[in-house]
Amino acid sequence: MAVRTPPLVPGVPLVGNAPAFRRDPIELLRRGLDTFGPIFSIRLGPRRAAVIIGPEHQQFFFGETDRALTMPEVYRAFVPIFGEGFTLAAEPGEYREQRAILQPAFAPQRLGGYIEVFVRETDAWLDGLGSEGELELVDAIEKLSLEMIAAALMGDDFRRLMGADFWQLYRDVVRGLDFVLPPFLPLPRFRRRDRARRLLHKRIGTIIGDRRADPGGHDDFLQALAEAHYSDGREVPVSTLQSMILFLVFSAAESTPLQASWTLILLLQQPDYLASVVEENGPLLAANAGPTGPDVVRRMHRLHWAILETERMRPMITMLWRYNREAYDLGGYHVPQGWSTVICPPLAHRLPHVFADPDRYDPERFSPGRAEHRQAVLNLVSFGGGAHHCPGMAFARSLTTVMLSRLVDRFELRLSGSAPGADFSNSITRPGRCLVRYRRRTRPRGPRVAEPAVTQVTQ
Ligand code: HEM
Repeated sequence: MAVRTPPLVPGVPLVGNAPAFRRDPIELLRRGLDTFGPIFSIRLGPRRAAVIIGPEHQQFFFGETDRALTMPEVYRAFVPIFGEGFTLAAEPGEYREQRAILQPAFAPQRLGGYIEVFVRETDAWLDGLGSEGELELVDAIEKLSLEMIAAALMGDDFRRLMGADFWQLYRDVVRGLDFVLPPFLPLPRFRRRDRARRLLHKRIGTIIGDRRADPGGHDDFLQALAEAHYSDGREVPVSTLQSMILFLVFSAAESTPLQASWTLILLLQQPDYLASVVEENGPLLAANAGPTGPDVVRRMHRLHWAILETERMRPMITMLWRYNREAYDLGGYHVPQGWSTVICPPLAHRLPHVFADPDRYDPERFSPGRAEHRQAVLNLVSFGGGAHHCPGMAFARSLTTVMLSRLVDRFELRLSGSAPGADFSNSITRPGRCLVRYRRRTRPRGPRVAEPAVTQVTQ
């Protein structure tokens, strides 16, 4: 048995690495990686965490999840957001039941219906943009994506029945997320969180009640949820469905719009590559090419590689955490029970022995023409791995593909200023404000982007 614990990144008395972590968590972990190699540790106040970087250690991390490494302790902070019993804070038996109940939302045969919604909502947005103007990209993509997510996952009547203030209430709930403070403190932020969650639960409860009382005529995922049963035949309680619905909307809404924004921001910095995307997609989107469906989305290869390269360079979730319910030995170190274990996609995706020339934007590393393409796909961990791998990956990538392919097909776009940097606080990679000028193409499905701006990708 190993006796040494992983080396600790030097910090300050009492709070350890907490101030550096709050300032720039990725910089802190990069320092650990550069100084000690792929296994080291940090201390956040009284909490110790082992950080493990790279494909072989990630395999251990995903393989041990729900065994030595567990999720409920990590996700307990989300209970005041979603409600008691929510999927990832549940013990393994209940978690597996809920995952099975969510599964129909991600069945491949649902994708065609989701894509129809993405096309409809994107086209309505593009039609309203006028002939030219300027927009703040992240805000615009977020607004559009949230509408698409709610309509696709829950159906049009969910949006109507949840009320015009749905997203405002949702924001109030999410802003109450806090990993440090006790959730019951009488802070205005926490009061707003609780009020908003109660209102959302009430409305979801009413919709579920109505759907159960009168199931006829609905063929959407919300109906599948309303009718869901556990494997022993029990009806799923409304309180569990309320938390599951909020969790599902959260999972989709907190990452997909930002990943889509980054994809476009990086493309706008690579005009030649963007031009090749427009050129490839033009015939697929031409008026006589028929409706966009999963088969069309799958043929947009160059945009797909750009999405993968963006996931590599700007992975949305900066760290995945587990609690060590049991001690383990790894790489010659002993990691005690009671610590946490962390992996960090932004660092893992920049390891030069894993991704050649890792700071270079190179979507074609994912193309079948390149020897490394299969390994490159396997080594992406932006959607997690193992039994908890994100089930919404195809949904998120299809949404991004539909939205961006249609946007760049109809509009010439250029960054108004410099490209935004990444903000890594709150565990996600958020782009800063990004102004983009747009002009409707006179030839709607032209083969090339006019007058591309020449800029470098901001690393
Ligand atoms: C770019 C967009 C997205 C990214 C980067 C992303 C990333 C992730 C990651 C990393 C995990 C694993 C977390 C962990 O192991 O601790 C995860 C889990 C999950 N994601 Fe996503 N996700 C995205 C979009 C979506 C969408 C659109 C949905 C729903 C439609 C979704 C639903 C879920 C669910 C339900 C889980 C929990 C899976 C489980 O533990 O069984 N995600 N996601």
